[in-house]
This record gives sequence, structure tokens and C-alpha cells, in this order.
Amino acid sequence: MTYNPPSDVMIYDTTLRDGEQTPGVTITTDEKITIAEKLDKLGVDVIELGFPAASPGEQRTFKEAAKIGFNAQISGLARALPQDIDKAIDSDADYIHTFIGTSPLHRDYKLKMSKEEILDKAVTAVEYIKDHGITAEFSCEDSTRTEIDYLLEVFSAVQEAKVDKINVPDTVGVTIPIKMNELITKINEKINVPISVHCHNDFGLAVANTLAAIEAGAKQAQCTINGLGERAGNASLEEIVMSLHKCYNINTNINSKLLVNTSETVSRITGVKMPPNKAIVGENAFAHEAGIHVQGILANSETYEALNPEEVGHKRRIVLGKLTGANAIEAKLEEYNINLNKNQFDELFKKVKALGDAGKTITDLDFRSVAEAIQGKPTQERIKLLGISVMTGDNTLPTATVKLDIDGTVKNHAETGVGPVDASLKAIQSLVGEIVDIHLEEYHIEAITGGTNALAEVFVISTDENNNKATGRATDEDIVKASIDAIISSVNKILMLRE
Ligand code: KIV
Ligand code: ZN
Repeated sequence: MTYNPPSDVMIYDTTLRDGEQTPGVTITTDEKITIAEKLDKLGVDVIELGFPAASPGEQRTFKEAAKIGFNAQISGLARALPQDIDKAIDSDADYIHTFIGTSPLHRDYKLKMSKEEILDKAVTAVEYIKDHGITAEFSCEDSTRTEIDYLLEVFSAVQEAKVDKINVPDTVGVTIPIKMNELITKINEKINVPISVHCHNDFGLAVANTLAAIEAGAKQAQCTINGLGERAGNASLEEIVMSLHKCYNINTNINSKLLVNTSETVSRITGVKMPPNKAIVGENAFAHEAGIHVQGILANSETYEALNPEEVGHKRRIVLGKLTGANAIEAKLEEYNINLNKNQFDELFKKVKALGDAGKTITDLDFRSVAEAIQGKPTQERIKLLGISVMTGDNTLPTATVKLDIDGTVKNHAETGVGPVDASLKAIQSLVGEIVDIHLEEYHIEAITGGTNALAEVFVISTDENNNKATGRATDEDIVKASIDAIISSVNKILMLRE
């Protein structure tokens, strides 16, 4: 195994091209520009903005980007065909990433071309790009399933044609770190242009394979924010960058403090939510629940954290649940400036454990309202439900009229929605809109008794514009009433924080 990593690695971001190939994701021109601006601030070296030959919309996106003038180079993907390359040139791309399949599967089934024909297309494409004075990166698609002698022959030929970088894609994510390391070692012995890698995550090895390639001397990682991409996705930019910085002491131009913000923007625009346990950017990446861990964290955060959350723009969170220890409760009470005597503290401790044992989510605001109730502080309900009326049916637009008392003033509002609960939520959002911008993050409904008159239990998590979260729970025979009560209870908890 070779260990010969460079001191600096270039980051080629393909969120807006391979990432857009995530099933179900399409990104408009305006959205691409918003993400590209974030990537540029983040410090990526190259932004693969899209595939200009795919559509006039893609070409417009490149023209827009050229007008803005990013620090990063703006790359367009092109098959090794003059018509694709022309589209990229006409769209003002300043970097072209051209590719052709080289593995037996691609040669025989997809392209139906001989090795010689493929080699010829690769060389012609690179020469054509270079004749236009544009940076050329060339990929042998499915490199990891291509015979090594032929792979080296193609890479040598494009090197002669003056390619600027070669890229080694593990197109279907089938390699393993040791094989990737061997492959890059062999290519590095023969080829004198910077080597890039592009790893897919079909076996969850994309980041490990990328790092193995860098250990063998690869100088660039192609990757995506949040690991988006075709099928199981590509290697995740945030995981590669933080591993390079922290585990290898290798530099990149990335400003790691912007990683979480960039990840959130990409997640919001693409609609692909991150699992809470996603490394680096997931909601739980710096959350601690177990009493033993929290005790360690409060004494010295390095006991249970591999890196400081601030380094990636994240926040440490102490989560309450059945594993919570007294230390965590004391820390939270101190944070909220709540003083409890010994009996009150014990009662609160028991309550937190009981909620955790019952599998209930306890947000910080829930904790605060339970602690203040135990302390004897009267619960403030700034919003009270005075009445609801809903209209729904087969050929009727579901409509809800909600009447609320907000800080002593009575207000009414009607809204329509996809159903009566949706219409009621919109009416509440509009009624409380002047004091808080409420969104529903979770909504669950469960029938807790049988029959058509079953009691329905509704559980919600609401968030405000500052991402404060509060749960609400309510039970009623009428699901609309239970939903509204749960929403209002969560909104009252959020408003408590503002006092
Ligand atoms: O996965 C792949 O092989 C690709 C190429 C276009 C580089 O995305
Ligand atoms: Zn790919």
C-alpha cells in the first residue's frame, strides 16, 4: 500500500451535476446560482455546474454564472463528442470535464465501440477542448472495472493530447480502499498530470475509497455536499474535507466553518433531508445524551468529541431522554436560569426519565416548561383557542376558520388547504404571524381507542424562524381539534422562550 499523499488537495464539487442526478431532484437556474454562490464562499476549487448539452436551461445557468464571475472555475460535463463540447464552449464554461466509458461492459453494451474507437474519441475530445484554450479534465468512466493496461493506454494518450487533469471514477462504487490505492499508485507511476478521483457510495465506501486514492497520491477529490448523487450518491464533501484536515493534516481551500450552512442550503433546495446521524452535518453529529458522556463533555468536550462543532459551523447539543444524568439537568437549569430545590430537582429528574422511557421526544423548550411548572411558575398561554369551524367534502375546497385569543385580543381567520388540518394550520400560521413564524416539522396522529369515535392523539414538533423547536401533544375525539390543540400548545411553548 502506498502512502504518498499531497500536502494540499483540490476539491471539485459536483453537487450541481452528479448531485442533481439524485433520484427525484431537479435544481432550477436560480437555485443552482444560489448553491454555486455558497460553494464559492466555501472555497471549492471547481464547481461542476451541470451538463450544458442536456438542456437550454442548463446553458442559461452557465451564462448566468459567467456573468457573476466566481472565484472557483466553472466546469461543464460533456460526453467525448464535439456537439457536447460545443454546447459547453457556447455556454461560456471555463473548464470542461469530458468522459467516455472504457470498461468492457461500457464498450460492448453501451457504446458498442472497439477499444481503438474509444481511445480515438477520447483524444479527439481533449484536443478539441485544448484547441479552444479551455481547461480539460478527462474521465475514463467505469475506470475501476477497466483492464489496467487499457486504462493506462487511454490516460497516456490524453496526456499526450495535453489534458490538464485525469479523473478516475468508481462509477458503480464497487472498489475497496486497498484496490483503489493500488490503482492510483499504478496510474501515478505512468502519468504526469494531476489525478482526480470520483467515488460512488453503493457499498458505503465512497469516502474511504477517495481517501485511499489520496493516500496513493491523488491530488483532487470529486465530491458532493451531503453525499448527493446518482443512486446511493457520491463521496460527501464535508466528510472528505474534515477527514483530510483532522485525520491526515492535509490542507484544502475549504472554510470548514461554512460546511453546516452550505449543507442546510443544499438540503432545503433539493428537498433531500439529512439523516440525523450523518457525519459532520447531521443534527446529532454533536448531540450527547448518555449521562456518562454528558459528564465527560461538561468537564472537557474532547472526551467525547472528535472535533469542535464550531469548526464546521455546528452546535453542541445536550439531549434529554432516559439516559440523561443529573449533570445534564443541572447544566440545562443553569442555562435557563431556573433554581430548583432538592425535591423539585428530583421530581424533574424522574419526569425526564419517565418521558424518555415512554419514548417521548423532549426538546429544550419542553424541558423548560416542565421545569418551570415544577418550580410553580404559572404557565403562560399567550394563545388560546376560542373556536374552530371546518368545511370539507368531495367537491369542496377544505376550509378552516380559526378563532384565537392572542395576548387578550380576539382574532379570526379562514384559510383553505389540502385538508381541514392543513387549512387550520395555515389559519393559525397567519393569525400568529405577527409574533412568530411557525412551521410544522413533524406531525403524527394515532388512534388510541378503537371505533369511529376513537380518541385521536396528535403529536407535533413546531419550529420558529430561529429553529427553536417545541413539541405539542393533544387528545380529542375530533382529529382536527386534537391537531389544533397540539399545534397551539407547541406555539405557546415557543413563545415562552421570548419572555
Ligand atoms: O460516475 C461517473 O462515472 C460519472 C462520470 C461522468 C465521471 O459521473
Ligand atoms: Zn458519478
